[in-house]
Amino acid sequence: MGLFRSKSVVYKPARDVDLGPHSDEFYLQANVKAPRMAGVLVKIFNWFLELPILGSLLLYVLKEDNLIHKLITRAKLEEPPLYVPLHQSGDLREKEVKCLDSALSPPEKAEFAIECLPVYSENNYDEIKPSFCRWTIMDYCRAYRSEHITPRMVAQRFIAAVSDSSKPTLNMAFFIDYNAHDILRQADESTLRYQRGKPISVLDGVPIAIKDEIDCLPYQTTGGTKFLHKQRPCTDDACCVKHLRLCGAILVGKTNMHELGSGTSGINPHYGTTRNPYNSTKIAGGSSSGSAAVVSAGLCPVALGVDGGGSVRMPAALCGVIGLKPSFGRIPHSGVLPLNWTVGMVGILAGTVEDALIVYAAISSGEIPSHQPSGILPKIHLPLLSMTKSISDIRLAKYDKWFNDCSEDIKACCSKVLNKLQHHYGWKTIDVTIPEIEVMRLAHYLTIASECATFFDAFREKNFAELGWDTRVALNVYGAFSSKEYIKAQKIRNRQLMFHKKIFAEADVIVSPTTGVTAYPIRDDALKSGELDYVNGAALIRYSIAGNFLGLPAVTVPVGYDKTGLPIGLQFIGSPWSEATLIHLASAMQTICKSEYRKPQVFYDLIKED
Ligand SMILES: *[C@@H]1O[C@H](CO)[C@@H](O)[C@H](O)[C@H]1NC(C)=O
Ligand SMILES: *[C@@H]1O[C@H](CO)[C@@H](O)[C@H](O)[C@H]1NC(C)=O
Repeated sequence: MGLFRSKSVVYKPARDVDLGPHSDEFYLQANVKAPRMAGVLVKIFNWFLELPILGSLLLYVLKEDNLIHKLITRAKLEEPPLYVPLHQSGDLREKEVKCLDSALSPPEKAEFAIECLPVYSENNYDEIKPSFCRWTIMDYCRAYRSEHITPRMVAQRFIAAVSDSSKPTLNMAFFIDYNAHDILRQADESTLRYQRGKPISVLDGVPIAIKDEIDCLPYQTTGGTKFLHKQRPCTDDACCVKHLRLCGAILVGKTNMHELGSGTSGINPHYGTTRNPYNSTKIAGGSSSGSAAVVSAGLCPVALGVDGGGSVRMPAALCGVIGLKPSFGRIPHSGVLPLNWTVGMVGILAGTVEDALIVYAAISSGEIPSHQPSGILPKIHLPLLSMTKSISDIRLAKYDKWFNDCSEDIKACCSKVLNKLQHHYGWKTIDVTIPEIEVMRLAHYLTIASECATFFDAFREKNFAELGWDTRVALNVYGAFSSKEYIKAQKIRNRQLMFHKKIFAEADVIVSPTTGVTAYPIRDDALKSGELDYVNGAALIRYSIAGNFLGLPAVTVPVGYDKTGLPIGLQFIGSPWSEATLIHLASAMQTICKSEYRKPQVFYDLIKED
């Protein structure tokens, strides 16, 4: 117990820190001091937290035990704070890209993306046929154009599949809300457009699901809670949803999520626990749990999520799909719950990299969020995936100690893929040191926690008791940080950005596993109360933080499975605005991994011929 004042840390100026492979910087493993709690224990713990004096004492001890005082509160560091990770457009020299005119309409943008895809041929026998692959946007589009199937038929199959997945034996809890009538209406309109030979874009008639944190009519936006929608009615589509609707996509409902995005398991006591399609006794991850699971289970080729602390990439990795988190500011945030302001970003979950690219093109914009200073209009580049051969002289930055801080299966699988990348494409791995990763995790936690607590203030008085028990604990802890601690965390943000910029001067991307563990079991005692499992939680988000705290784009690609058949993801983190390069590298990685892709235990085929 650390009731005694621990010493403070004095940080060396960032410019003097050695980032080379032989740096003497210490790799501090996350040493989370909090036992797993579920059921009545969570309630008792929360009761303590809410006691007037004992509660504050308990919070103090928790912060002390988890090294927050030592590494942040009392830290001495000279870097000025950086509050918002919005980057100048700089001089990205990306290879093999096309510039997307931001004045194009969303359907035009989607069409533009199609021109970047690898050339399709029905009889391309050269390519190894994967044993399993999900239907892509282009598959839907071709099936509709050839009148092999209509959007109405797909909508009917979709509705039947969701209803099947909800029966007590499966209980997948994919959606918080979906409306069969509204889905069929959109599908009928799309069917008519195909009959007239006038589909709006490749996305016409393609089912897309939306995380219940993003506004999408005719649904309410619950954020996974029981009350938010009553206080904040949804009156319009979010900007990104509007773009998809303009492309003719069928918006099929609101996916389940961890309440207020405040946890990583996807266990939601109000709307049910989203189950992992690869093994329904395991978690799907979170907070975009439903969005990852529906893509994995074949219900739609693409879904939208929001990533504030790995919330898109982590469930994507656990469910064996692609997760793309663009640079901070790349996708307009209007109509997304402001659970936090400086770390979250709309992200894309997709069955394939190509589908992520199409939707990325359709919803990204060259506009900066209105509450941020304007003047930065980074160009949107799309990668020419048709030219994979030429992307050869790539340098991947790897920090061994961090890379290997994961389960044996993940380490072995990810290392094997790195060798393959080197062998197939000649990509080089360069060894680096990324200092103070655990400090960054704590600083990010403190930031997202303070922002979320601030968001929640408007509801605290009236609705606190309606929260699930785990979220109640989270919000009690979230409110525990001082303004000084917040600013120290922003100084750490700046420091980390300096480190990362230096690394990007030497390397194209940073490579890491996406998570430290694969999907862990759902335990019955957690279903009603939620669970507090900060040890697994820390392992799940171990590699996610730079993407959020520093606003960097990142992508995860499924690269294999652990011994029990659960998916493993590998992540690339790019420099600001380098989505095109990331997507290009992800596509190359997908090419060498897809022959081993496996079908999930729970999977629905919406296009097959009966
Ligand atoms: C932060 O915000 C993002 C997007 O708004 C969300 O997905 C995430 O769950 C939030 N996290 C917290 C802890 O508030
Ligand atoms: C799911 O996981 C359980 C527990 O680890 C295991 O017994 C079962 O065989 C797995 N199911 C599948 C389909 O792999």
